[in-house]
Amino acid sequence: TEARLYAVVPAAGIGQRVGAGLPKQYLTLHGQTLSEHTMGRLLAFARIQKVVVAVAPRDPWWPQLKVSSHRRVVSTVGGDSRAESVLNGIHCLLAEAGANESDYVLVHDMARPCLRLSDLDALLSQVDDQGALLALPVADTVKQSDQQQAVAATLEREQVWRALTPQLFPLGALRDALSAGLEQGWSITDEASAMERAGFRPRLVQGRADNIKVTHPEDLALARFYLGRQEEEGLEWQSV
Ligand code: C5P
Repeated sequence: TEARLYAVVPAAGIGQRVGAGLPKQYLTLHGQTLSEHTMGRLLAFARIQKVVVAVAPRDPWWPQLKVSSHRRVVSTVGGDSRAESVLNGIHCLLAEAGANESDYVLVHDMARPCLRLSDLDALLSQVDDQGALLALPVADTVKQSDQQQAVAATLEREQVWRALTPQLFPLGALRDALSAGLEQGWSITDEASAMERAGFRPRLVQGRADNIKVTHPEDLALARFYLGRQEEEGLEWQSV
């Protein structure tokens, strides 16, 4: 049987850096919360069977969004780290959403509401057993620092990329890599890093620069701008 496609959305961060009264994913831009923008884009892909959202324990905002009871959305509880939230999501897919280890899973930050369907398409066309991720070549020259914050080295810019999401992996392999990484205390800031440590060589798929992660307060204005521009371009997906 053909492998199916699922998605996990870690959304259990408290977003302290944004400094708003509520977690960043519940702030409203262009008439929808960041979460609704993000989910609308994933749900626009009929190929994605189910989207599991890992939310903080006792998150009072998520259940109030209509999208939380969408028929292709399953909610679970997140963990103390992003990697734990993703792993919980994978366990939930296996236990409650009918997924199995040979299926594929997309992982996408709830905090990236400006994802374009064309980027998602590009990523999905690269699916193989090593996995793949959206990424951007860096524009600036990149320095490595030493303990005294002096320059220790200049990296070859041609080979330095910023890792974005979504990232796409075989579900069973990602579960194993994340479990091993958490057990052994690897620093896991994205799924690809866990896969790399486990011996995989994920492919970099060049994405668009407007797929920003809303982290700092000033990112909100940028997200508002990009969402507005995408609206003007007439990009369409279902509203959730
Ligand atoms: O904090 P950061 O911006 O790196 O978070 C990236 C994504 O991971 C966000 O969507 C956030 O909600 C999620 N996250 C999570 N569980 C945590 C920490 C972050 O699901 N413990």
